[in-house]
Amino acid sequence: RTPERRVAVFGAGYIGLVTGACFAELGHHVVVRDIDPEKVALLRSGEVPIYEPGLGDMIARNKERLTFTLDLEETLDGAEIAYVCVDTPPSASGDADLSRLWSVVRSLEGATRLKAVVVKSTVPVGTGARVRAALDEAGLSHVGYAANPEFTAEGRAVEDFLHPDRVVIGAADDATARLIEELHAGVDGPVVVMDVRSAEMVKLASNALLATKISFINEIATLCEKTGADVEEVAKAVGLDHRLGPHFLRPGIGWGGSCFPKDSEALRQLASNTGYHLQLLSAVIEVNNLQKRRAIQKLQDELGTLTGKRVALLGLTFKPGTDDMREAPSTVLAARLLAEGAEVRCWDPMARPPAAEPWSSTTRHETPELAVEGADAAIVVTEWPQLREADWAHAAAVMRRPVLFDGRNLLDPAAMRALGFTYMSVGRP
Ligand code: UDX
Repeated sequence: RTPERRVAVFGAGYIGLVTGACFAELGHHVVVRDIDPEKVALLRSGEVPIYEPGLGDMIARNKERLTFTLDLEETLDGAEIAYVCVDTPPSASGDADLSRLWSVVRSLEGATRLKAVVVKSTVPVGTGARVRAALDEAGLSHVGYAANPEFTAEGRAVEDFLHPDRVVIGAADDATARLIEELHAGVDGPVVVMDVRSAEMVKLASNALLATKISFINEIATLCEKTGADVEEVAKAVGLDHRLGPHFLRPGIGWGGSCFPKDSEALRQLASNTGYHLQLLSAVIEVNNLQKRRAIQKLQDELGTLTGKRVALLGLTFKPGTDDMREAPSTVLAARLLAEGAEVRCWDPMARPPAAEPWSSTTRHETPELAVEGADAAIVVTEWPQLREADWAHAAAVMRRPVLFDGRNLLDPAAMRALGFTYMSVGRP
């Protein structure tokens, strides 16, 4: 049996909470620190500030081994391993903003009993070397360093953590690599150990390749529209080639979320900083931007002008099964529609849109049927299962014009047309 460790997790966001809860589940003693008093108070009262299946139960059943605090001393008291799980949002230049990471690293000064500092946050390649230097300067040269990127998808993060395709550990020395590998005892997946820079690159390359697959199929979908082919048939058969695989070939309105947009831009900037222009990735990003604008264009072609038209956005989160609105395509669609002078109504079962523009200028409704009332067009933006079950016959009857753009190919074209819809989708005839 591997020893139980004392782990300090910095950051109680999606990644920190899942990491902390899963390490506690594996038997370790975990203290999660965040600087947001409201978040910590909520967690201490037994509530979870984000929606992630299984996470609330996991936190509740491990409360003996899992605590939340604002206090730095309490966090580091007895800690053997410090996990950095703070966010690294895009900065003005498109490079990752590492200010939160640096403030954690600075706060470790004096934590001489640590055995290792591990960065889970997504960072530019080379960050680990800079953290290493900072630790050395802070008198922590005996403390190991590891990169341990996460590959969890929202909505299945707990499952992904405990049953991953792989655990990637980048470390400069064997002892640190072994320590972090042992910490994962009980995790059901292969462990791959490599140098720190390569581990940092794996994360960025994986997300970029996944985004590439989606943009690729979205471009093929556009070509299918122009040639009369059906992208759903094409994607299915392409995906049967085991070298290509069936995943991330779902055409749609474009990728969003907390990772793909920020990480692909960060990788592009990282390359630019070395004097190399990542051409393929730039095109992947451009295709993704275009995908949202093409949705608006389709409505414009159908309605003539959008000025004064009422448009319903169905689904706001960047994907179903989450309340996350970060880089959601719906935000771009809402802003574009408002800029064209349209009135925007919306529905989502879980989203918590920010109180700012464009959302402050839209009206939210309790059901999809209410959202489309009197609308000149509706767009399926997120493939929530509720939309498959919606009363579309009623929707067609209460819309001013039954124009429906299914941005996720969720509905059956023949059935929708039979209900009287002018039905458009992505890459289907
Ligand atoms: C992603 C990666 O999957 C995960 O490994 C990484 O750690 C973080 O980023 P996540 O952002 O939670 O996870 O969402 P994911 O399910 O991967 O979807 C990303 C976006 O791509 C969504 O907007 C989704 O709608 C879109 N998508 C996904 C498609 O348009 N088509 C697909 O076939 C798959």
